[in-house]
Amino acid sequence: AGNPANQPPNVPEWSKSLGEGVAVRPYGKPSKFEKEVIRRDVEWLTASRESSVSFTPLHELEGIITPNGLCFERHHGGIAEIDPADHRLMIHGLVERPLILTLDELKRYPRVNRIHFMECAANSGMEWRGAQLNGCQFTHGMIHCVQYTGVSLRTLLEEAGVKTNGKWLLVEGADAAAMDRSLPIEKALDDCIIAYKMNGEALYPEQGYPMRLVVPGWQGNLWVKWLRRIKVGDQPWHTREETSKYTDLLPNGKARRFTWSMDAKSVITSPSPQAPIKHGKGFTIVSGLAWSGNGKVKRVDVSLDGGRNWWPARLDGPVLDKALTRFYYEFDWNGEPLLLQSRVQDETGYVQPSKAELRKIRGVNSIYHNNGIQTWHVQANGEVENVEVA
Ligand code: MTE
Repeated sequence: AGNPANQPPNVPEWSKSLGEGVAVRPYGKPSKFEKEVIRRDVEWLTASRESSVSFTPLHELEGIITPNGLCFERHHGGIAEIDPADHRLMIHGLVERPLILTLDELKRYPRVNRIHFMECAANSGMEWRGAQLNGCQFTHGMIHCVQYTGVSLRTLLEEAGVKTNGKWLLVEGADAAAMDRSLPIEKALDDCIIAYKMNGEALYPEQGYPMRLVVPGWQGNLWVKWLRRIKVGDQPWHTREETSKYTDLLPNGKARRFTWSMDAKSVITSPSPQAPIKHGKGFTIVSGLAWSGNGKVKRVDVSLDGGRNWWPARLDGPVLDKALTRFYYEFDWNGEPLLLQSRVQDETGYVQPSKAELRKIRGVNSIYHNNGIQTWHVQANGEVENVEVA
């Protein structure tokens, strides 16, 4: 493919004259030939763009870090464009010394750097009743993994002095949705961060500039963006986002109260519907992602025949606590159709369930916390579609 005049032994046009100089592109962007690597939304999914979601193009990415411009976005009231000079973080309620901090003041506290995935509880939610969306960008793309820099929430709570009856935090955003959630003090004191950088640079506005809450391993909804207020109280608030939304409706009509943690899950990112096999039979690379909100990934297995036989995948790159982990399975494809699956086990011993196993416990009326095994049907011509096996 391409222009034969640009291929060896010819000398292509771009080698014959000087290219652009330095700083002509003061903020770098990917090559124009990579213009398909973008976030995408599904128009029919939501009534408005302001309360909606875009998806990370997982099928185009490698390694474990999501580039800032490709992190999926989920907001309930649009993107708040905040001038940090006018933004304050307030910590009040059951504390000895209420705090009101500017971004500059926050930056004077000792810093921590942590790599974590963040998954929306609704990731794969559209797949509860069967295979629906054709692409891992859409079935699994409500996830990103970046390195956060910020201040441990524990440091700030110690500074404010939580009173002995302070057991819960109300965390609230400064966007038009004023999104708020209750967070138990144990988690707040354990590993939560108030982050102001992602992958080394300031948070992007869509990810909560100038500061967001990082709640490692727990559902994305708790990771309040544009964070402006933390109120310490003695019991949970039961806000809209933790009652009518982001809870799991069970077959008996009862809803689980607070499902915070994201159980272990994995997906093959390539081949997948948006990343078909184009080279025909022969040496083939299966690339995928695995993660667990309860610790590190221990192992991943891959099946080529819809779960009858499993083969160990190779983990490559860092295997970090509550972070995406990259796996590979390389094999010699004989060109026959495949039913590709991946299955993760995390360090607690938990094994990712099949969709049938998940539905046995959770029924079919759920949206959130779908961590069932995904199946891709690879056809002889290399095209891939989203299917389910019984
Ligand atoms: N915080 C505020 N203030 N407003 C929001 O709408 N959406 C939540 C959470 N924090 C939201 C928010 C939800 S549901 C998710 S999944 C994550 O942010 C999405 O974060 P992201 O846009 O960085 O992917």
